[in-house]
Amino acid sequence: MNADAVSVCGAPIRVRHQGLIDWVQEIAALTQPTRVVWCDGSQQEYDRLCAEMVETGTLVRLNPAKRPSSFLARSDPSDVARVEDRTFICTSNRDDAGPNNNWEDPAKMKARLNELFSGCMRGRTLYVIPFSMGPLGSPIAHIGVELTDSPYVVVNMRIMTRMGAPVLDVLGERGEFVPCLHSVGAPLMPGEADVPWPCNKTHKYIVHFPETREIWSYGSGYGGNALLGKKCFALRIASTMARDQGWLAEHMLILGVESPQGEKSYVAAAFPSACGKTNFAMLIPPASMGGWKVTTVGDDIAWIKPGPDGRLRAINPEAGYFGVAPGTSEKTNFNAMATLRENVIFTNVALTDDGDVWWEGMTKEPPAHLIDWQGQDWTPDRAREKGTKAAHPNARFTVPASQCPSIDPSWEDPEGVPISAFLFGGRRATTVPLVFEAFNWNYGVYMAATLGSETTAAAAGAQGLVRRDPFAMLPFCGYHMGDYFNHWLRMGHVIDNPPRIFCVNWFRMDESGNFMWPGFGDNMRVLKWVIERCQGRANARQAVLGWIPRYEDIDWTGLPAMTRAQFEELTRIDIEVWRQELDQHAEWFERIKERLPRELVLKREMLALALSV
Ligand code: OXD
Ligand code: MN
Repeated sequence: MNADAVSVCGAPIRVRHQGLIDWVQEIAALTQPTRVVWCDGSQQEYDRLCAEMVETGTLVRLNPAKRPSSFLARSDPSDVARVEDRTFICTSNRDDAGPNNNWEDPAKMKARLNELFSGCMRGRTLYVIPFSMGPLGSPIAHIGVELTDSPYVVVNMRIMTRMGAPVLDVLGERGEFVPCLHSVGAPLMPGEADVPWPCNKTHKYIVHFPETREIWSYGSGYGGNALLGKKCFALRIASTMARDQGWLAEHMLILGVESPQGEKSYVAAAFPSACGKTNFAMLIPPASMGGWKVTTVGDDIAWIKPGPDGRLRAINPEAGYFGVAPGTSEKTNFNAMATLRENVIFTNVALTDDGDVWWEGMTKEPPAHLIDWQGQDWTPDRAREKGTKAAHPNARFTVPASQCPSIDPSWEDPEGVPISAFLFGGRRATTVPLVFEAFNWNYGVYMAATLGSETTAAAAGAQGLVRRDPFAMLPFCGYHMGDYFNHWLRMGHVIDNPPRIFCVNWFRMDESGNFMWPGFGDNMRVLKWVIERCQGRANARQAVLGWIPRYEDIDWTGLPAMTRAQFEELTRIDIEVWRQELDQHAEWFERIKERLPRELVLKREMLALALSV
């Protein structure tokens, strides 16, 4: 291969980075694709790949009158979510991966992967995808190159990252990049027909080598398993880079809040997968609150570095949204629905008879007939009988962030936006109050470190069980969780005025199983209190867990239905239940063992003491 490599459209692409050329050559020799193409990231390339996938049956073109330039993909039923039990962190010392990760010895894993990757791209094209996580050239951004045999991955990466020829220019001759190798693990024998969604039903490996900053992913074509810029790079590998270099790579949305007086603040918020991050990032405040505005910087990942002004500055490293479709509607997320009007790749949603898409929760009444996510006829009656969903619960949309009506004017600012507050929230039917502010940074780190949440369909496995999901990073922290807690404790001291830390829970239920808090746009009431706390303007009462708003501290204009008694129930701390919760914290801490920071043990003891009086 010479320095002029061939692109999808046949035009030469100039590659100046010898290290990259050598690596592509080495992987091509290992995987033996029919051809190698370099992606330039152009619209023509995207259109051509989509058209090819319509031909092969991987994509269905949606009715352009309903959903212009949009497509539907249906995955193999065995490949519908991130596979946490097949996700590995390979460090030379087992302890460095921690109890939060599956570990394997790097040499052993490499040997296994070399076997699996050997010849795995036969009959397929190897695409080279240079991409930037973050605005091109931003001091907070980093570059990766994904090699994949999936055109579906290429077109999704074009939406989710800044990708193609301009990235090669930034990379230059010697720039650093994270090598990300991906294969669906389904070589084609000569004459063998392909399937719409190739994957490997037996072997799936999502593997990270943090010490050499490499990613190898085999066997799955779905979401975070295959779009390697997202969870693998921007969280697992980036979290280790952040630990080494003094910054934060977090599973957080970033939003801007503008007061009626025009004061702007930014908040970063961590919630586990499928707990409403996208809805929260795009919320529309109730008009009755008088001119508050929320703008969206990111909906899933934040890279946060100390800025020259001594504040933490955050970028969204992604360029698109890979959001959960079911439950999204004009009512729950008007901005998301507007974002989805065109240029969308939907995966595993249902197809309507007029060539558009539908999912559970989109409209109150389902259409009379659909083709479900598995390509079968679906009617409401049949669904009631058999309990089948039209869309898979983890069905997704991939869409450019720039189409979002609430996009923040600074969302691509290479310097990032200054963060005033961190929010941490889980999905908890009981126990956790609507909102409280931690007494100080270290106390906030304790609360985030012990965050619990009920599991969702975003990952394969049982749903609805409370598990500890510290910082909403349990599946995404690329190193030992105890060291991660330490890193967070340290970060509170490297900046002059660290953001305040708050915990929220939108999901508390009453005894009849009804949500006690309306959520969605009304979350603005909580956000307003948070912002005003940061500005030293809002009051609170001191409670055992932290500072909690009193009824009169919240703006209730336009929500007369919420009574003082209901709010008190919503923010109640049940001492007995919290003693049990603290026992669970202790059990969780047991798993962290000797790398658990002493400071967190002390915080737990102080809390236990406060709960016992
Ligand atoms: C996601 C996830 O896809 O967290 O964002 O699973
Ligand atoms: Mn996520």
